[in-house]
Amino acid sequence: MRSKPLTLILALVILVAAAIGFAVGRKSAPEPQVVTTESASHPAVASTTEPVAAGDQLDGIRRGAPVNQEINPPLMARVENTDVKRNRAYPMQPPTIPHSIDNYQIDKNSNRCLLCHSRANADRFQAPPVSVTHYMDRNDQFLATISPRRYFCNQCHVVQTDAKPLVANTFKDIDTILSEEQDKKAN
Ligand code: HEC
Ligand code: HEC
Repeated sequence: MRSKPLTLILALVILVAAAIGFAVGRKSAPEPQVVTTESASHPAVASTTEPVAAGDQLDGIRRGAPVNQEINPPLMARVENTDVKRNRAYPMQPPTIPHSIDNYQIDKNSNRCLLCHSRANADRFQAPPVSVTHYMDRNDQFLATISPRRYFCNQCHVVQTDAKPLVANTFKDIDTILSEEQDKKAN
């Protein structure tokens, strides 16, 4: 009968000791390696812009870094504001925007793009007017004003940036394919 409280106290002591041991053990465990801004130039850190091949896979998101390491995000791409048009990869590609569009508002009441790109204003701003497809509804009927389908311009048109492709691709445009075909026939 008298040994009951004793065993209880013993059990309590063991429990407290275990808890303290656990807490101390956790503190002295090595911290998981986190890459900070200071170590950005460390050679072990994956390049922040170039896609890195991991095995036979291109890893555009983690760029080859181990999953337990935090890598520095690539610098934000710079928007090109040079008025130089880029080639379209195929005839129906929405052309990329050769100027910056910061703070150009598009909402129910106003559309900044159309200030310059509408048929009526294009000459004043020397901007290319939106093409005839932008006035067509889904039954190919021409509307007097811009089609609601084409109202939100940046649904299809994007600014040009100096960002490098995150994922490699082997796209060839139709002219390249046609000339390759002709070369084959000639040989
Ligand atoms: C202040 C006038 C102005 C505004 C506002 C404007 N643009 Fe432009 N945009 C131009 C001019 C001028 C050009 C011709 C190239 C150049 O000078 O940059 C152009 C060129 C373009 C082109 C290239 C067309 C082609 O044939 O390659 C696209 C696409 C375009 N703009 C889309 C837009 C979109 C989308 C918006 C709204 C987010 C917008 N623009 C707002 C003046 C404007
Ligand atoms: C649903 C996608 C879509 C939307 C939305 C859209 N466009 Fe386009 N845009 C295109 C495509 C595709 C082309 C190229 C083929 C063509 O002309 O239809 C184009 C061509 C253009 C061109 C070049 C015209 C030419 O003659 O070469 C301009 C400028 C342009 N768009 C401006 C705009 C503006 C400004 C808006 C918003 C009011 C807008 N687009 C909305 C898809 C779109």
